[in-house]
Amino acid sequence: MITIREITPSETWPIRHRVMWPDMPASYVQLEEDFNGIHFGLFEEENLISVVSLFVKDGVGQFRKFATEITEQGKGYGAKLLAFLVTESRKRELKELWCNARVSAFPFYQRQDFEVVSETWEKDGVAYGKMRRVFN
Ligand SMILES: CC(C)(COP(=O)(O)OP(=O)(O)OC[C@H]1O[C@@H](n2cnc3c(N)ncnc32)[C@H](O)[C@@H]1OP(=O)(O)O)[C@@H](O)C(=O)NCCC(=O)NCCS
Repeated sequence: MITIREITPSETWPIRHRVMWPDMPASYVQLEEDFNGIHFGLFEEENLISVVSLFVKDGVGQFRKFATEITEQGKGYGAKLLAFLVTESRKRELKELWCNARVSAFPFYQRQDFEVVSETWEKDGVAYGKMRRVFN
């Protein structure tokens, strides 16, 4: 059974590290801001499969470090977690949700009505662009 629930910052770190920056030290994925964020985890039974972190400022939500375990990608778990994040953001009456997305993940976000709203740029060998979904 799939469940999504709030998790602690440290629960996100191993999966972030394995999936996003395996060649960097583990500390690279541990953000100072994590302690001001809201973290969600998607579980299959008790196994943590996908994580995302939400940071709210002035009624606007930024999400960061969305990661699904490599062997579990492409099975729809991320889409479920993103839909949950959207619902949660609406409940919290956020005006919009945005992220600095990896260009490789653009189609994933576009499927749930996020739009690219910037030029792309590169950091540590990865191409990014800003994406946004505004709520009415
Ligand atoms: C981006 C990421 C979080 C998406 O999570 P995920 O669990 O793989 O997401 P989904 O399985 O819902 O969707 C991924 C793709 O698989 C496809 N898919 C979903 N269910 C599927 C299924 N049952 N069969 C085949 N394909 C499927 C989706 O259509 C989607 O394709 P798209 O990228 O063209 O939209 C994940 O791929 C990841 O961790 N990537 C590496 C880190 C990263 O890039 N994070 C995002 C930073 S912005």
